[in-house]
Amino acid sequence: MQEWWKKATVYQIYPRSFNDSNGDGVGDLQGIIEKLDYLKGLGIDLIWLSPIYDSPNDDNGYDIRDYYSINPEFGTMEDFDQLLDEVHKRGMKLMMDLVVNHTSDEHQWFKDHEDYYIWREKPNNWQSIFGGSAWEYNQEKGKYYLHLFSKKQPDLNWENPELRQRIYDMMHWWLQKGVDGFRMDVINFISKHPGLPDGPNGDGSTYFMNGPRIHEFLREMNDEVLSHYNCVTVGEMPGTTPEDAQIYTNPYNREVNMIFTFEHMDLDHGPEEKWDYKPLNLTDLKENLEKWQHALYDIGWNSLYWNNHDQPRVVSRFGNDTNYRYESATMLATCLHFLQGTPYIYQGEEIGMTNVKFPTINEYKDIETLNMFEEKKKKGTSESDLLDQVHYVSRDNARTPIQWTAKKQASFTTGTPWIKLNPNFTHINVESDLNNKQSIYSYYKHLISLRKEVDLITTGKFRLIHREHSNLFAYKREEEGRTLTVYCNFSDQTIVVNDDPKGDVLIQNYEDLVSNELIKLRPYESIVYKH
Ligand code: NOJ
Repeated sequence: MQEWWKKATVYQIYPRSFNDSNGDGVGDLQGIIEKLDYLKGLGIDLIWLSPIYDSPNDDNGYDIRDYYSINPEFGTMEDFDQLLDEVHKRGMKLMMDLVVNHTSDEHQWFKDHEDYYIWREKPNNWQSIFGGSAWEYNQEKGKYYLHLFSKKQPDLNWENPELRQRIYDMMHWWLQKGVDGFRMDVINFISKHPGLPDGPNGDGSTYFMNGPRIHEFLREMNDEVLSHYNCVTVGEMPGTTPEDAQIYTNPYNREVNMIFTFEHMDLDHGPEEKWDYKPLNLTDLKENLEKWQHALYDIGWNSLYWNNHDQPRVVSRFGNDTNYRYESATMLATCLHFLQGTPYIYQGEEIGMTNVKFPTINEYKDIETLNMFEEKKKKGTSESDLLDQVHYVSRDNARTPIQWTAKKQASFTTGTPWIKLNPNFTHINVESDLNNKQSIYSYYKHLISLRKEVDLITTGKFRLIHREHSNLFAYKREEEGRTLTVYCNFSDQTIVVNDDPKGDVLIQNYEDLVSNELIKLRPYESIVYKH
């Protein structure tokens, strides 16, 4: 039997920025309920909810204070139960965010259970992903605790079997409520190398990513919890290669169903990581995605994404958000959705929302962005250079509220939004896409419906064609004599290729074909043939 999640399309909701039902400027659970018909209409099968648990919000909910209660800004447990019920009534499923590499420092465990966390008399050289040392001194205890993210996110000690059991109990509790799976936050960080040695690159990542007991912990979690339910899991796993992913996602290993890789998202990063970005070289992207497609074929399973709450908007990043916003957003969608794997759409992607350029750093809220800004300013980078970087890479690009209409505050809230809207909501918004026959929304809807009709999208074997072309990403999906051929022009130049266009056009993002004899692709044009 083919697993249901192999044919599913996932939609990620970042609740804070999705839809505010009570005018406090923060999206909430009732706001999500109001929009479930919209998601059903798009064809979504599975919703991934970013964290909604009680949290002091140092990292917008990725710092959990209590796994068993709902952040009051978002609503109550009754609201959650209603949401789950309404999702299920519409034939959709709901996946929770599972954040168990760390908790908030305000979690009761941090007060009562020293041995649930990682302590040292002296720090090693590990760096926090949000900047600075990964160790914080605790006056009361006279020693340091590890925090790979903010100092309000102490890392949990997975070496402690009692702690692991507490986590499994919590997972059972949510699954018994009826949730359909988990997206697991930085789950490949949970096993740290014994002795916590200094890292060779001055940051320690070699010793906390994919550590020595990671497979054992995931299998234990599977045996204890996941195997008892028909649920889906996706592990967020920075620093993971296709060879690692073969182990993590091979069903015989009983670990996770699929993982989020970062390799394709890192291709426009310079030597100083993401703040030091460089233009994407398309051949790098092709080579990378090809590698993942081959590595997991018949072995494991890919998740497919361009966007989430940590990444800038893809139409601004790999497309052209000014002159060819429709063309490039739909071309990028085509390129991704015809690969093998489960596609993830991040809220707003389906209407081609773009990066935002707030004029001053004061408008930004994201802890990573603010820390980076301060750190680099101290080292002498000018504010205007830093703002340019922020405009390109900040996570807040993805976190501005969803643009529902062209009306006040884009109808996201009747109050003052927690972060400003992107001012382009007057022309980029859901309402206008719904009223327009040719819209990014309707293109996404079409793509999603094709996945349900054409099995080859799920099962066909990937083959890259036109490997050397620097602006064209073209590939085939093949199985038993049937073929899909996908052409995507990643540039604003016309491309002509000497292929014989075989079969029928399955989907295209321009209204008409230029010619029937050869493949001619206008700026950001994409065409898929089926035969
Ligand atoms: C990954 C999450 O996606 C990100 O938003 C968060 O800041 C870190 N993990 C820490 O939980």
